[in-house]
Amino acid sequence: MKILLIHGPNLNMLGKRDPAIYGDQTLAELESLVTKKAKELGAEILSFQSNSEGALIDFIQAKIPEAAGIIINPGALTHYGLSLRDALEDSTLPVVEVHLSDIHAREEWRHKSVILPIAQKQITGKGIQGYIDALEILVTRSKESK
Ligand code: DQA
Repeated sequence: MKILLIHGPNLNMLGKRDPAIYGDQTLAELESLVTKKAKELGAEILSFQSNSEGALIDFIQAKIPEAAGIIINPGALTHYGLSLRDALEDSTLPVVEVHLSDIHAREEWRHKSVILPIAQKQITGKGIQGYIDALEILVTRSKESK
């Protein structure tokens, strides 16, 4: 079972980027923790980061046939990325939206997610644990639907 782990704009800067909000672990460290947990659960992670919405959409479209679900932190595209939202919806794959910070406790413009209406769940403010929770949700769901 393959799960896509997708990171939007600026998440390549994790570790350097405002550690008080996003923590001090790098994207590589985050991916390695999620990949390790996936192995324990019998799943495989295909990860991708881009600062460009089009590249994220190209990745999703290319991987649809082999994927069982999508974990995505869309970065700021969360709040306005309608093409990304359409690509996620068109994939018909279960999507869990993850944010390291609690977007509902920050500036008002971060409260709205255009991704949420097409996601199974939104997880916010749990740091890297949010990705592990998302993985468990998708793996359980995929095993149940078999
Ligand atoms: C974020 C929250 C977004 O508002 C922000 O633009 C990000 C990261 C988070 O993980 O908390 O880039 O998605």
